Amino acid sequence: MKKVILSLLVVYISTTKIFADEGMWLPSLIKERISDMKKKGFRLTSEDIYSVNQACLKDAIVHFGSGCTGNLVSSKGLLITNHHCGFSQIQSHSTVEHDYLKDGFWAMRQEEELPNKGLFVKFLIKMEDVTATVLKSYNSSMTEEQRSSLVAENSAVIIKKAMKDNHYQAAVEALYYGNQYFLFVYEVFTDVRLVGAPPSSVGKFGGDTDNWMWPRHTGDFSIFRIYANKDNKPAQYSKDNVPYKPKKFFTLSVKGVRENDFTMVYGYPGRTQEYITSDAVRYIANISNPDKINLRTLRLDIQAEEMSKSAEVRIKYASKNASISNSWKKWQGETKGIIKNNIVQNKIEYETGFSKWAKDKPEYSTLLDQLKTLYEELEPYSYATDYLSEAINANEIIKFAGNIYNALLKESKSTEKNPALLLSIMDDFYKDYYQPVDKRSFIALISEYRKNVPENFQPEYFKTRMKEFGNIQNFADFIFSESILAKEKSLRGYINDTSCISKLEKDPAVEMYLSFNKFHNDNIKQKYDQINKKLTLLYRTYMKAIMEYDKKRDYYPDANSTLRIAYGKISGYKPYDAVYFNPVSTLEGIMEKDNPDIYDYNIPQKIRDIYKIKDYGEWEENGTVPVCFIATNHTSGGNSGSPVLNATGQLIGLNFDRVWEGTMSDIAFDTQMCRNISLDIRYVLFITEKVAGAGHLINEMNIVR
Ligand code: ARG
Ligand code: ASP
Repeated sequence: MKKVILSLLVVYISTTKIFADEGMWLPSLIKERISDMKKKGFRLTSEDIYSVNQACLKDAIVHFGSGCTGNLVSSKGLLITNHHCGFSQIQSHSTVEHDYLKDGFWAMRQEEELPNKGLFVKFLIKMEDVTATVLKSYNSSMTEEQRSSLVAENSAVIIKKAMKDNHYQAAVEALYYGNQYFLFVYEVFTDVRLVGAPPSSVGKFGGDTDNWMWPRHTGDFSIFRIYANKDNKPAQYSKDNVPYKPKKFFTLSVKGVRENDFTMVYGYPGRTQEYITSDAVRYIANISNPDKINLRTLRLDIQAEEMSKSAEVRIKYASKNASISNSWKKWQGETKGIIKNNIVQNKIEYETGFSKWAKDKPEYSTLLDQLKTLYEELEPYSYATDYLSEAINANEIIKFAGNIYNALLKESKSTEKNPALLLSIMDDFYKDYYQPVDKRSFIALISEYRKNVPENFQPEYFKTRMKEFGNIQNFADFIFSESILAKEKSLRGYINDTSCISKLEKDPAVEMYLSFNKFHNDNIKQKYDQINKKLTLLYRTYMKAIMEYDKKRDYYPDANSTLRIAYGKISGYKPYDAVYFNPVSTLEGIMEKDNPDIYDYNIPQKIRDIYKIKDYGEWEENGTVPVCFIATNHTSGGNSGSPVLNATGQLIGLNFDRVWEGTMSDIAFDTQMCRNISLDIRYVLFITEKVAGAGHLINEMNIVR
């Protein structure tokens, strides 16, 4: 009897196989996952998720400013994304007098909505597997060079065809390291205006202390509106533009979330590396991450010190500081996660199994050895590349020197003159520049560079300067006192046209930029790119090989800033012994953390007042207001602002982060430890109505209660 039950159970399990929650799936192929999604509670069809024939969920989602996701919530183009995604826009409208970072910003009428230079959003019109067309006329006797020019030529034809007689943008992207190619067609809107943002004490509550952590209480949202011309088509900013009418916008559900509820995240994850070998992971965890963390710690400490001394410096460096610290903290969590989860060792074991299997397959048998050799070769070049970006070009004045110089050079070669561009580079730079921060960082970073980068990877220029000046302090004094870039007024008077290029080349900051970057291009970058190209080629074969070797694994293409779906469930987790984290946080936690003496935890007085009288309106649940929740959705950087949907495709939250113990999910996803963090949509509505008094925006939305 036992045996019968057991074998019945085996049959049952194998026919109703439920997959783990790992994976970022392509919307147009979601048909292949839909039965698994349904088993987990989803109640719509694949056509509801992705269709080219009817309006569907994808039409309510945008790629926001290339690094985030946004979602449409009204018939008048209203869009919600994260506060940190709109941060640079909010900051760019802020001054000491109108400090929207500190006080928040709310347009009470459409005329008050603020346009944003350079911001754009993209809607995906369609995506298509074009592998066969991209590889048309390919044969296996071709060299890799021939293959890649063929891919480029065929892709150009596909893109041209997709953009014929329309105003769309198209791109062909490689998936699985070039085993597959997809065409993506987008509609791009450039008139996107700021509508509302809570003060940072809500939108960035907990600051960098709570960032990448659970439990979390950050009201990380901001509201924008897309504008179009009178035909509802994209147009440059004009006051005659009107709110865009989307094909689809989300219905909001305020019924609340429970542990184990189905959730789905639909957005634009940026980059993952789920299939890299143990050598690559070891390098990240042991060398690259620790070095980059160290260099950023130096910069962050200096910024923090100067920011605490002056409100002006605090505003100037708010956006820069947040973005530097964000990766800095993520790398720390990632490194810990890699070590704690034995990812290198697990990969080694996997590779041992693979090698045994591949031994008698000539096309695969030497793959891992070749990868290993290439990684060994790559290491010193990666190291130098990290130091160039984190210790040399990370100096504001050096980066600025590069921007100005390259813009002038481009202009000198072109017949079209664009003096406005030069002006805007200068304006953007000086608006947020405080030289004492830059100079102190310069000294700290260059000292690390000198100490850690082997001499044969340092440019002659630098070695000569060190001999000449004796120490880095003197070198810094020279750069910052002699460079015209360090003197705003002089530079503005000096740069009128491109005739100043040759003189500018002798400017100390420009000279330093050019010397380091030329040395890098000539001696490091070429080699670095060459090895990486070889790696990608090998990975193309390795990817194909593991798909044959390990048929049980559930493959999805690494994230590459294209639209994806992750699904899973609301779920707490157990980060360490004797601790279980509940999946939902509430206003009670905000009150526990509230502290007027600590900048990141000093909430608006209004929230304290509301808390006293419990005036939560319809956003209340069990006597409090829900704030954030966690789930098992596989997300990455870029998924910020993604809609978090329930089983019927209604919006229940905004994705904005992951938990500390699970940030290694870009390299290896662990179902027990990896959780995405979302803002409960009810907290968004609570802040908008009760704290900001912007109930008119809520009236535009479609809410099911
Ligand atoms: N960690 C989140 C992401 O990667 C949020 C970052 C913004 N918050 C901050 N405190 N820096 O984008
Ligand atoms: N905070 C990230 C973002 O900006 C999301 C993540 O990495 O989980 O996209």
